Amino acid sequence: MSARMFSSSAARRTKVAVLGAGGGIGQPLSLLLKQNPLVSELSLYDIRGAPGVAADVSHVDTPSVVKGYAADKLEEALQGVKVVVIPAGVPRKPGMTRDDLFNTNASIVRDLAAAIARVSPSAHVLVISNPVNSTVPIVASTFEKAGVFDPAHIFGVTTLDVVRASRFLSQVIGAVPSECDVPVVGGHSGATIVPLFSQTKVGKAVAGEPYAKLVNRVQFGGDEVVKAKDGAGSATLSMAYAGAKFADCLLRALNGEKGVVTPTFVKSPLYADKGVDFFASLIELGPNGVQKINPVGNLTPEEQKLLEACLPDLKKNIDKGKAFVA
Ligand code: NAI
Repeated sequence: MSARMFSSSAARRTKVAVLGAGGGIGQPLSLLLKQNPLVSELSLYDIRGAPGVAADVSHVDTPSVVKGYAADKLEEALQGVKVVVIPAGVPRKPGMTRDDLFNTNASIVRDLAAAIARVSPSAHVLVISNPVNSTVPIVASTFEKAGVFDPAHIFGVTTLDVVRASRFLSQVIGAVPSECDVPVVGGHSGATIVPLFSQTKVGKAVAGEPYAKLVNRVQFGGDEVVKAKDGAGSATLSMAYAGAKFADCLLRALNGEKGVVTPTFVKSPLYADKGVDFFASLIELGPNGVQKINPVGNLTPEEQKLLEACLPDLKKNIDKGKAFVA
């Protein structure tokens, strides 16, 4: 049997839910997931607008079935899902940090996580809602409380930082982004975002002021979008792209593909001795989610400094998330 036949006929296809499917990220993300051949069914939920988005996306000519669920149909939306992506919640406005979203988004994410823990406790949960550094611990603690926490199943989606690092580096050195595969470790906000340019062939050469500017642009690239949208929200299209990219990595790994390795924010032993028990690093994904957590590898002195600045901030964000559920 050819590889092509295997991928189209024997592949295990997965039911995926998007919670917050009516939003700026949720809509294009749903469209991109509709195009993924590993998705069998798409369950689109939002407190407003999901049935309309579902009717629209369902006309795209790929085999997956799309259903929309209104505000009171969360549990139905979660029946039988294997992967749940969460872009529900409010986005930033100019001048706001991601942490400023905590008060609104923490309870939204906690309530959605509690429903997933009840209805589909073995689902893989991909958290996009900010502040990711806190919302991932919120999902984990909520699952823990329900007695169903599996650390291999909960992911913070940091792929947009990876996508930005790749694109911005490619612009600085005049390469194509596919040659600029930058591991981004740490967390997902400001100084907790640690791009490791030295770990790419082409990134090693960037030094001095261009290097400092590049790091700053990756850490605060989201602000460029928030400012340009001028009150209308934050990154949605590039985020939908990044979310679909990460979901595809996970779906391929769940489907048995070997060697799928990508940065994502997970429960991690790497810096647990410093009180930081969630951390993004290169993670090998497998048929049960997180398969292997890779250490950050060799760091330059500059990268070591970035990591030292990341850890205390990250610890605060994680502790805040845990305290919210406790
Ligand atoms: P949006 O406001 O356009 O959409 C959010 C959607 O969530 C709305 O349709 C709203 O009705 C829905 N919603 C609110 N409460 C809900 C609930 N309890 N259940 C289900 N749906 C609910 O916002 P946007 O731009 O789509 O951003 C969503 C989140 O993603 C924000 O928290 C934002 O900060 C975050 N984000 C994360 C990024 C990352 O790299 N991880 C990048 C960009 C944004």
